[in-house]
Amino acid sequence: MKKLEQLYEGKAKKVFKTDDPNLYIVDYKDDATAFNGLKKGTIAGKGVINNRVSNHLMKMLEKNGIPTHLVEEISERETIVKKVTIIPLEVIVRNIAAGSLAKRLGMEEGTKLQHTVLEYCYKDDELGDPLVNEYHIYALGAATKEELDLIADYAFKINRLLSDYLKDLNIELIDYKIEFGKTPDGTIILADEISPDTCRFWDSVTGEKLDKDRFRRDLGNVEGAYHEIMKRLLGE
Ligand code: TMP
Repeated sequence: MKKLEQLYEGKAKKVFKTDDPNLYIVDYKDDATAFNGLKKGTIAGKGVINNRVSNHLMKMLEKNGIPTHLVEEISERETIVKKVTIIPLEVIVRNIAAGSLAKRLGMEEGTKLQHTVLEYCYKDDELGDPLVNEYHIYALGAATKEELDLIADYAFKINRLLSDYLKDLNIELIDYKIEFGKTPDGTIILADEISPDTCRFWDSVTGEKLDKDRFRRDLGNVEGAYHEIMKRLLGE
């Protein structure tokens, strides 16, 4: 497998073409941003941790029937993934009120939601990734009803699998953001990453935040939190 030219550079990852037309290589960076890129920083070792944590969780999901982009981890920061076109939606699932939902609905962070919440944001940096509903998504042509139904099914199934898996490691899954992609044959699979950048993880016992909120909110010990997640998931 040969790493060819860079196709794309995002806030946290670079994507490269390979000599196989159906495969890409993602390369995880230590760069961190928040508030649509307004806040910038570096979290030392984040790329390595997110690469390993995301692959570990995707492997678990794959074993449990969720199709993912994961092919093979090839270095500390690099993974071969299936080539997809990203569906321009941030799919957010929430179990406990936090972040933008707590603010928007005037709920105290940490309140258990009486029903799991599924939200979609339209991926567009210039617009600041606005919250949209199903009808906006159909109107934009971002996904069809059939595609969105499948995405919602996957999102809820992933919620059960991830929540149960993490509970045993004393981690409470507060909320998370996932993205899906379409392979050249039109199959929808889980793509992007699942990491402390894209989830809220709270210690089940102490309530300590073990995710990117430590960076967003200047809570300190950002690297320590990422390491703690890797240690609990991968034992090192
Ligand atoms: P929010 O409460 O700020 O809307 O975030 C909900 C979840 O989505 C949280 O787990 C963090 C994650 N997230 C991202 O992965 N990328 C983003 O750009 C934002 C705003 C949130």
